[in-house]
Amino acid sequence: MSSITPKFILRPFRESDAESIAKYANNPRIAANLTDGFPNPYGLDDAKKFLTMAIQNEPYTIFAIEINGEACGSIGIFVQSDIHRKSAECGYWLAEPYWGKGIIPEAIKQIVNYGFRTFDIVRIYARPFSFNKESQRVLEKAGFTLEATLKKACFKNGEFCDELIYSIVR
Ligand SMILES: CC(C)(COP(=O)(O)OP(=O)(O)OC[C@H]1O[C@@H](n2cnc3c(N)ncnc32)[C@H](O)[C@@H]1OP(=O)(O)O)[C@@H](O)C(=O)NCCC(=O)NCCS
Repeated sequence: MSSITPKFILRPFRESDAESIAKYANNPRIAANLTDGFPNPYGLDDAKKFLTMAIQNEPYTIFAIEINGEACGSIGIFVQSDIHRKSAECGYWLAEPYWGKGIIPEAIKQIVNYGFRTFDIVRIYARPFSFNKESQRVLEKAGFTLEATLKKACFKNGEFCDELIYSIVR
């Protein structure tokens, strides 16, 4: 366990983040843990496309994780619709050089706080793959609890895997 969490801030994305996002997101070890909507390989055009979607007005739903002046990852909170409208899904990824330093658990705590203050929701959840022990660990460290295991719910990189649902409820 890391004793010192490097300084990071969550802030809205900017067009000038394209190069750092393309640099860090272009990593199969990140893509392997996300939906197929996350490109691999990940080029500058992918980053620009992402930023077109991510640069938005308040209330913000996607934030850059800025470390040493660079966008080194992303964390988002996405309010659902219809009968699920009081729930939001949380998703995140971090540049590999910064893994294992306790950044994402702190970022999740901040986004949970922001989410419950900003949106009319009572539940925030995340859906890691069953093999993603690091993500399960960060959710536990951020106060989430395991709710469910959806057997063979995902087909990723040619293989079935279970999907876990973690949540924190107000
Ligand atoms: C999963 C991820 C978000 C973790 O973020 P993080 O800021 O590295 O989290 P932490 O520093 O708290 O580490 C979490 C666990 O990873 C493991 N870990 C520690 N050092 C590590 C390292 N150098 N490399 C990889 N994993 C490490 C440990 O088990 C740690 O738990 P511990 O603190 O109890 O020892 C990050 O690895 C990532 O972006 N992965 C790819 C994308 C992804 O999985 N997104 C989530 C989809 S649900």
